[in-house]
Amino acid sequence: MDKPDYLQGNVDSWQQEAVNYVEAAELAWASPEPYWGIWRIPNREVGFLPDSLAGQRCIELGCGTAYVSAWMVRRGGDVSAIDPTPNQLATARRLQQEHGLDIDIREGFAEQLPFADDTFDFAISEYGACLWADPYLWIPEAARVLKPGGQLAFLTNSPLMVMCTPDYDADGPTKRELLRPYFDMHAINWPDEPGSTEFHLPHGEMIDLLRANQLTVERLVELRAPNDATTRYLWASPEWAHLWPSEEVWFVNKSAT
Ligand SMILES: C[S@@+](CC[C@H](N)C(=O)[O-])C[C@H]1O[C@@H](n2cnc3c(N)ncnc32)[C@H](O)[C@@H]1O
Repeated sequence: MDKPDYLQGNVDSWQQEAVNYVEAAELAWASPEPYWGIWRIPNREVGFLPDSLAGQRCIELGCGTAYVSAWMVRRGGDVSAIDPTPNQLATARRLQQEHGLDIDIREGFAEQLPFADDTFDFAISEYGACLWADPYLWIPEAARVLKPGGQLAFLTNSPLMVMCTPDYDADGPTKRELLRPYFDMHAINWPDEPGSTEFHLPHGEMIDLLRANQLTVERLVELRAPNDATTRYLWASPEWAHLWPSEEVWFVNKSAT
């Protein structure tokens, strides 16, 4: 793979951001019940993680502080986790030691996974590779390392929220108007976060990309903020996200043959 331009910018940005994710990581590692996304929705309402992963080879793509990996180990999974940002992995490794859990933590990019074809039963990403890596590069890699019949699940912002979010944090959270186009949505550079690049695709294009990689959509769960929702993210509005989906979870299966 030729190294895409955005890779280093995203690592540099996460090297700076990592300190702001330590406290949330400590709470998540300590929580017996997984919870997800901006609104911390309990796993029992989303089913992002199955109750048991016993006997399953699992990988977290863009693990950050690796609390998702911790939850997978506690469900019986044999877990690998990969992320390119040393400061995020330092938190992950410290918490792994404190909690005494066995996770194969690697430094690396989801666009070029250091694993053989057909290795994993289950791959997951919560705002990791699915937000910070080009889907045209990480989805083929995820499909490659999944076993036939394996599942990929990922949680990220909805294209609708991306369309309705102003460029600058100072302009307030998500609006009730379309501020950017849907067609041609792909790499997005928010001006308040210079140097970093996010990726989002329109739904039809995402489904085509998944299908081109032998991945069939089983479910698309659009997450709704609860009535009393709060968040530490200034760009997210609980009122908006109670009426429209700010986040979505894709469940896709690799064909069995
Ligand atoms: C928000 S964290 C995701 C982890 C965790 N679930 C969370 O929500 O805090 C985003 C992570 O994506 C990672 N990341 C950035 N570029 C990546 C890439 N190309 N491949 C895999 N992970 C990447 C960053 O290093 C960062 O740790």
